[in-house]
Amino acid sequence: MERYPDFMKNVYKLTSIDLSSYKEKQMKRRIESLAKRSGFDTFEKYFHALENDKSTLNKFINYMTINVSEFYRNPKQWEILKRDVIPLLIDKKRSIKIWSSACSMGEEPYSLVMMLTNFFSLEKITIIATDLDQEAMNKAKIGMYSAKSIANIPDEFVEKYFKPKGDGYLISESIKQRVTFKQHNLLKDNYPNQCDLIVCRNVLIYFTEEAKSEIFNKFNDALIDKGILFVGSTEQIVLPQRFKFSSYKTFFYQKNI
Ligand SMILES: C[S@@+](CC[C@H](N)C(=O)[O-])C[C@H]1O[C@@H](n2cnc3c(N)ncnc32)[C@H](O)[C@@H]1O
Repeated sequence: MERYPDFMKNVYKLTSIDLSSYKEKQMKRRIESLAKRSGFDTFEKYFHALENDKSTLNKFINYMTINVSEFYRNPKQWEILKRDVIPLLIDKKRSIKIWSSACSMGEEPYSLVMMLTNFFSLEKITIIATDLDQEAMNKAKIGMYSAKSIANIPDEFVEKYFKPKGDGYLISESIKQRVTFKQHNLLKDNYPNQCDLIVCRNVLIYFTEEAKSEIFNKFNDALIDKGILFVGSTEQIVLPQRFKFSSYKTFFYQKNI
């Protein structure tokens, strides 16, 4: 299928999603295969359908955003977060500001709330959680999860904060209330400020080097001095000093002052 450059421009006009900031080979292959499965053999015909059929458009956004997630993804890193990073950030403070910046269906921000109950009472915890994909966040607000997705959660939290329902588990209102969800495009929208911790995991891999550089600079601006950026397990930053970060632990970067 040719004419991908035109397709990218048209998608940007229609959705504000800038496909040129995503690694082209990977994204083009994914979109091509989705288009073919949906019965379109050219990008032109596929775009026409995106423009005219809401359900085709939703399916496209859902597919290109890749919402796969789970609670306490890569548990060893969550151990480091709990043992070394949160104590460093708390340092006499009564609360900390945390941004889960590609939060998918809520597994990450809800894991953060549960982990933080080791340090703060629930009513003192607030997490900002954002994602490009509004549908994923709508699911987060419902809070139903599979047994597989909650497998890494410490048993005491599962007992305390989840109820079996149908063939899944429903997270408690007390956890949900601590998270504010908002739609946000990392490539385009303004970033929050004065964050102590930014969690951005398993989305950077899809972006071009240019897009990533821009995002790292904006993350640096969004953090307080000595604030921490937590990235995914295949997303280590090459030469973090370029973005005024120092490596604090593997997958954790501290803003320089
Ligand atoms: C694989 S999930 C990662 C979820 C979670 N952070 C984790 O590590 O398990 C990637 C998420 O990034 C979101 N995403 C993709 N492009 C984005 C963008 N430009 N701005 C914000 N979020 C984006 C997707 O909607 C998806 O929910």
